[in-house]
Amino acid sequence: MSVYDPIAKQYQESRHPNTAFALYIEEPTYFNMLGDITGKSILDLGCGEGIYARNFKKKGAGRVVAVDISEGMLTLAKEQEAKEPLGIEYILSDMQELGQVGSFDVVTAAYSLNHAQTKEQLLAMCRTIYDNLKPECRFVAINNNLDRAPESLIYINNNLDRPPESYRFLEEYGYEESISGSKEEGKPLPSLIYQLEDKTVVIEDYYLSKATYEWAFLEAGFKEIRWHEQTLLEAGIREFGEEFWQDYVKYPNMVGIECWK
Ligand SMILES: C[S@@+](CC[C@H](N)C(=O)[O-])C[C@H]1O[C@@H](n2cnc3c(N)ncnc32)[C@H](O)[C@@H]1O
Repeated sequence: MSVYDPIAKQYQESRHPNTAFALYIEEPTYFNMLGDITGKSILDLGCGEGIYARNFKKKGAGRVVAVDISEGMLTLAKEQEAKEPLGIEYILSDMQELGQVGSFDVVTAAYSLNHAQTKEQLLAMCRTIYDNLKPECRFVAINNNLDRAPESLIYINNNLDRPPESYRFLEEYGYEESISGSKEEGKPLPSLIYQLEDKTVVIEDYYLSKATYEWAFLEAGFKEIRWHEQTLLEAGIREFGEEFWQDYVKYPNMVGIECWK
């Protein structure tokens, strides 16, 4: 059973409705990197309940294949595909063992590489990415910023209808003991925290340094790696004010990654 199976529904709810973070930072950062995806074939690794796979299709992508290790997440993805058929092909698999399922214009991953616990697992993921890309094509990802300071682990589920004061540092919710100690390769980090009504959901991912990521991409065969800072849209500043965003700006909790085959 995958760690996401028991919390699949809660995770899905945390992605809907869109949060201020998703609208004004996450999506702009991701789609700025992706550029025009019209007609492009995309393999989305660690697709979860399919939020981006659907988004890609709605933005005009061609063939979209989406892979996840969690049956629970894929059940939700398929339910949505049944309700609103977009032609997305879903595959239940560990991306480390996927093998080649096609030759894609773009391979994507949103917050899934950060589930690699060791550099060997990360390398296996990177090899899958590489093997499924057409020559000269790109891997584009958003990932948790594992190099952030522990105090920057922020509460990200600030729905639009929540007041700005609900946007807080993690420690204000009393989780600081779980992030004590220094960052070590493979050490768990509780990086995703969701407050869903009366329930708090914590999903751990694992610290692997930027140097380890770069090693894995190069080892898999990628020629060039670019890290991207998150983009904050002006519209978000207009809507919520600068103060609301100051912690996101000071402690970016995601990074963009682009790799060329
Ligand atoms: C933080 S969620 C992100 C889901 C989705 N990309 C999104 O943006 O909502 C991470 C997802 O990666 C999946 N995942 C983690 N390790 C995986 C692996 N080795 N192979 C395939 N999927 C994996 C999890 O099951 C989970 O659905």
